[in-house]
Amino acid sequence: MTWSRLTTTAGAPVADNQNSLSAGPRGPLLLQDWRLLEKLAHQNRERIPERVVHAKGWGAHGQFTVTHDISAYTCASLFSGVGKTTPLIARFSTVAGELGAADAERDVRGFALKFYTDEGNWDLVGNNTPVFFVRDPLKFPDFIRTQKRHPRTNLRSATAMWDFWSLTPESLHQVTILMSDRGLPQTPMHMNGYGSHTYRFWNAADECSWVKFHFKTRQGHKHFTNEEASYIVGQSRETYQEALFGAIEAGAFPRWTLFIQIMSEAQARACAFNPFDVTKVWPHADFPLIEVGEMELNRNADNYFAEIEQAAFSPSNFVPGIGASPDKMLQARIFSYADAHRYRLGTHYESLPVNRPRSPVRVYHKDGAMNFVGQQTGVVDAYYEPNSFGGPAESPEFREPPMPIEGDAAHWDQRGDDDYYSQPRALFALFDEGERARLFSNIAAAMAGVPTEIVERQLAHFDSVDPAYGSGVRAALKRD
Ligand code: HEM
Repeated sequence: MTWSRLTTTAGAPVADNQNSLSAGPRGPLLLQDWRLLEKLAHQNRERIPERVVHAKGWGAHGQFTVTHDISAYTCASLFSGVGKTTPLIARFSTVAGELGAADAERDVRGFALKFYTDEGNWDLVGNNTPVFFVRDPLKFPDFIRTQKRHPRTNLRSATAMWDFWSLTPESLHQVTILMSDRGLPQTPMHMNGYGSHTYRFWNAADECSWVKFHFKTRQGHKHFTNEEASYIVGQSRETYQEALFGAIEAGAFPRWTLFIQIMSEAQARACAFNPFDVTKVWPHADFPLIEVGEMELNRNADNYFAEIEQAAFSPSNFVPGIGASPDKMLQARIFSYADAHRYRLGTHYESLPVNRPRSPVRVYHKDGAMNFVGQQTGVVDAYYEPNSFGGPAESPEFREPPMPIEGDAAHWDQRGDDDYYSQPRALFALFDEGERARLFSNIAAAMAGVPTEIVERQLAHFDSVDPAYGSGVRAALKRD
C-alpha cells in the first residue's frame, strides 16, 4: 500500500486492500477531509467575548405605541402622533454575572431598548433603577471590579463591594434600592425601566428641555426574598429566560407604560441639586410624570445569538429631537459602548440585521473587516464627502440646537457636592416596616465576612441617612 493510493479521492474504493484493517470505516482520516476541518475550525470560533458588564441577558422584539402627544417637547418622529407605532428590541440583564450566571441573583437589572424609528435607531440603555452607584465615569471601571471576581480567590468579594461603597457615599441611594425588594425582581416583566440619566429634548421650533424616561411595568412589581431566590436557583438557573420566553410564546405579552419628566432650562439653572447627577432623582412632586405611550414585547427571537447576543445598544444612538445632557457619566457612555461593540462584535457591527436601522442608511464608512454591505452611501463614486456625485450630505434636520454649557473644563472634583443623604432618606421614609426589615436583613447577609472597620464605616453612612436605618442593620448583623 502506497501513500499515493491512500490519498485516493475521498469516497473512492481503495482497490487492493478490501480486507485490510484500514479499509472502509476503519480507514484513516485525511487532512483533505475539508468537511471535518471546517467543522472543527468553526467550532473553535463559536464563542465571542461576553459583554464586559451585563453579560447575562434575556430579550425579545416588540413595539412602542404613542398614546399621548408630546410634540411640544420633542420633534422625534417616533413620538410624532398618537397611535404611531415603532418596532423595537429589548434586552434585560444582570450587571455582574457572567454569561452563565443564574438569573435570580440580587443585582441591578439592565433595561436596554433599541427603537427602529423611521429616522434611524434610538437606543435607551437604562436600568431598572432611576439612579446609579457613581456619578464620576472615572469610577465606573473600579466599581465594576468590586462586583466581579477577586484576582486571587476568583470569588466575588463582599469586602471589595462594601469597601468601595463605604468610601463612595454617593452610592447610598442605589445601594438602598439594590438591598431593598427592588434588588431581586421575579422576572424581567415585573420591574420598571428607567433611562436614569437626564437627556435633552428639542421641538420643531428648536425649544429645548431636559427629560427623564420611566417605563412602568403593567404586570406589577414582583420580587423574591433571598430565601426564595436561593430555592429557585436550586431548581433552575434560567428562570428569567423561561419566564420571558414562555410568556411571549403563550401570547401573554408584557407591557410597560412610558412616562417622562420634563425640566425646563430655567428650572435646571435654579435647581437646588445638580439635575445632571445620575445618583439623584427628580422629585415627582416638582416634576410630575407625563404619560407618553405603551411598550409591548410580543415576539421571541428565532435565534438568540443573532438577535439578542449580537444586539449592540449604545447611548450614542440618537435621533433628531433627542440628545445628550451634560451628565458626565452619559458623556463617557457615549464613547464606551460603540467602542465595546467594535471589540466584541467587529468593525461593522452596525450592519448586522439586529443592529441595522430600518430607515435608509447612508454613511461614508469604507472597507474594514467583515464589510458585507459594500459602499454604504448608495452611490458608487461617492466614497468621500463633499462630492459631486449625489452622495449623502448631512441633512438639516439632524442639526441639534447648540447646548449652552458653562464652567471650567478641567478634571472634575465630584466631591464638590456632598449631599449624599437627603434622597436616600426620602426613599427610606417610603418603606413600610416589612420593607425595612427585609432591607436590614439583606444588607446584613451581604456583609458576611466583611472586616469590622469597613462595616462600621458603612453603618455611619446609614446613620446619617436615618438613625433607624443604621440601628436596623446593626440589629440584623447581631441576629445573623
Ligand atoms: C461611565 C459609566 C458606564 C460605562 C463606561 C458603561 C459601559 C458599559 C459597557 C462597556 C457595556 C457593555 C456593552 C456591550 O458589550 O454590549 C455596558 C453594558 C450596559 N450598560 Fe453600561 N456603562 C456605564 C454606566 C451605565 C449606566 C449608568 C447604566 C444605566 C443607567 C448602564 C446600563 C447598561 C446596560 C443596560 C448594559 C447592557 C446593554 C445590553 O443589554 O446589551 N450602564 N456598559
